Amino acid sequence: MMEWTDRHCRFFHRLLTRRALIYTEMITTGAVLHGDRARLLAHDPAEHPVALQIGGSDPAKLAQCARIAADLGYDEINLNVGCPSDRVQEGRFGACLMAEPDLVGDCVAAMKAGVRVPVTVKCRIGIDDQDPEAALEILTGAVEQAGVDALIVHARKAWLEGLSPRENREVPPLDYDRVYRLKAAHPTLPVVLNGGVTGLAQAAAHLKRLDGVMMGRAAYQEPWRLMDVDPMLFGMDAPYVSAKTAAEALIPYLERELARGTRLHAITRHILGLFRGVPGARAFRRHLATEAVKPGADIAAFRAALALVVDLDGAMAHIPAA
Ligand SMILES: Cc1cc2nc3c(=O)[nH]c(=O)nc-3n(C[C@H](O)[C@H](O)[C@H](O)COP(=O)(O)O)c2cc1C
Repeated sequence: MMEWTDRHCRFFHRLLTRRALIYTEMITTGAVLHGDRARLLAHDPAEHPVALQIGGSDPAKLAQCARIAADLGYDEINLNVGCPSDRVQEGRFGACLMAEPDLVGDCVAAMKAGVRVPVTVKCRIGIDDQDPEAALEILTGAVEQAGVDALIVHARKAWLEGLSPRENREVPPLDYDRVYRLKAAHPTLPVVLNGGVTGLAQAAAHLKRLDGVMMGRAAYQEPWRLMDVDPMLFGMDAPYVSAKTAAEALIPYLERELARGTRLHAITRHILGLFRGVPGARAFRRHLATEAVKPGADIAAFRAALALVVDLDGAMAHIPAA
C-alpha cells in the first residue's frame, strides 16, 4: 500500500507473523528502470516472504523489472490491475487494464518467461459499467492462459471517473460471492480475496472456499491483528508472546536505522496502532506522536513510550509509574 507498506512497516509486520506474505507498495516500471532502484527496492532479509508489486503495462519493461526484482530476492512479483488513481490511468496501467485483458495476459506471459518466482495479478471485479461476471472471467482466462500463479481479487468494482481512490475503496459494494464463483469456475487457479476483511475469524471463513485472504487497512491500522495469523491460520505460536515484547524486539532495528540517519518517526508511525485493550496504549500513541516527530528524536523517545504500556502477557510485565 502506497506510503504505508514501506520497508520499515514490513520489517515491523514480520515481527508479528512469520507466515503471512507481505507486499510492498506499488512501484512503477519507470521508477524501477530509471529511478533510485537501490532505495526503491531495498528490503531486509528478515522481510521474507515478501512480494514486490509493480505497476505498468509494457510487457518488455515488466519482464525486465520482474527479473531485476527476482535477482534481488523478492519471493513473488505482483502486477497491479486494481489502482484507480488518475496518475495511474494516465500511465495506462492499474485498474484501467481490466478493459485490456489480452494486454494483461501478454504482460503476465512476459514476466513469467523471465523469472522462476511466482507471478501474480491483483485486480478488481470490474470497472465502470463492465459486467463483473464477464469482465472478471475474461481477465482470469487471459492471465490463467499466460500461466499466472495466483489472482488476488479486490471484491469490488473501481469507478475510474467520479470517485477518488479512497472512495473507490469504500463506495462500490463488496461482492464476495463473485469471487467465490470465480474460484468454483477455476478450481486449479489459486484465488485470493481482498477487500473489507477486518478480522482473522472473517479471513478463516473465506479460507474455507478460497486459497488466500489479503488484508490491507485492518492489518496496517490494527497491526495487533497480525499476531493472530500464525496461531489461528498456521497452527504455530506467534513470534512473540505479547505486543509489548514484539515492540521491544524492534529496538535493535530502530537503533540500526537511527545510526544510518533514518528519522525515528519514519518507523514509529507504523506502530501507533499496535496496542489494543492494553492499559497505556493511548499514552504510547500520544508520546510517539509528539516526541518521535521532533528533530533528533532518538531511541529514548521510543523506550519512554513503551514504558507507558503495561505488558499483559509478557514475561517482563510491570506497572509503569506514569
Ligand atoms: C493508503 C493505501 C494505499 C494503497 N496502495 C495500494 C497499492 O499500492 N497497491 C494495491 O494493489 N493496492 C493498494 N491499496 C488498496 C489495498 O491494497 C486494498 O486493495 C484495499 O484497501 C481494500 O482492502 P482492505 O479493505 O483490506 O483495506 C491501498 C490502500 C490504501 C488505504
